[in-house]
Amino acid sequence: MHYVAPSAHDRPPTPVIDLEAPQWPFPPDVRVRIALEGDPTMLTALEDERLGRYRSDTRRRQSALGRTAARSLAGDVLGVPPLEVGLEIDRNGAPVIFGLEVSISHTSRGGPPAGAAVVANQRVGIDLERVTPRRPDLWRRLLRPDEYAVLEDEGGPTDEVQTRLWSIKESVLKGQRTGFRAGAQSLRILEVDGPLALVESATSGTWRVATVLEGDLVVSVAWRNLEVG
Ligand SMILES: CC(C)(COP(=O)(O)OP(=O)(O)OC[C@H]1O[C@@H](n2cnc3c(N)ncnc32)[C@H](O)[C@@H]1OP(=O)(O)O)[C@@H](O)C(=O)NCCC(=O)NCCS
Repeated sequence: MHYVAPSAHDRPPTPVIDLEAPQWPFPPDVRVRIALEGDPTMLTALEDERLGRYRSDTRRRQSALGRTAARSLAGDVLGVPPLEVGLEIDRNGAPVIFGLEVSISHTSRGGPPAGAAVVANQRVGIDLERVTPRRPDLWRRLLRPDEYAVLEDEGGPTDEVQTRLWSIKESVLKGQRTGFRAGAQSLRILEVDGPLALVESATSGTWRVATVLEGDLVVSVAWRNLEVG
């Protein structure tokens, strides 16, 4: 674990954890950073103002942690100070950075707020979750009948399995920038093999997804499977 340096605002540093190949099952250009609880240090005045509109302090903090992860990581890759990274929002609400692909996720479910970002040279999506009690029938909304075999292979609809399958799909929906507007069943999980899954989208081809556990955080990262798609 290392620390994002404090900004001029003189706030305490935010601890971050980096996940990269070859230690983690991602392509070499895919870099993931998790920002943990702590005062976010990497927001522009505009972001500060936008996040200030959230009524929930927790929501504000987790969103700030996602942006802290994205700004600091993209700054490292592009060789510019985090606050100079041109991080914008497209018309779907998805984050965009000129010259780099990016995706952001955050959570406070089942634990303190945490944020994560992935940057890469190719289209990517990320989802961050904790294993928490889920509706026992979540899988019915999430999966198509032709995916039930995957659920069985993984051991049935436990909270762990439902969280993982949810996270796999959400990372792809983030990567294709539709979010759940596209519907969870517009994706089909073709196979799960150790940390890796292969997912077919009705609109954006096939994706590889790596799902890893960092502490109590489940992190899914999706990238286009250009070999097949
Ligand atoms: C995109 C979506 C899956 C994110 O859900 P979430 O529970 O907030 O999940 P996460 O914490 O993983 O992601 C949040 C981040 O996703 C990013 N994001 C938002 N919309 C996105 C989109 N269409 N595609 C990719 N990323 C998106 C943002 O960076 C956001 O962080 P922010 O708080 O800094 O803006 C969800 O908002 C969605 O499905 N939206 C599309 C459908 C829609 O518009 N529904 C209306 C609200 S119900």
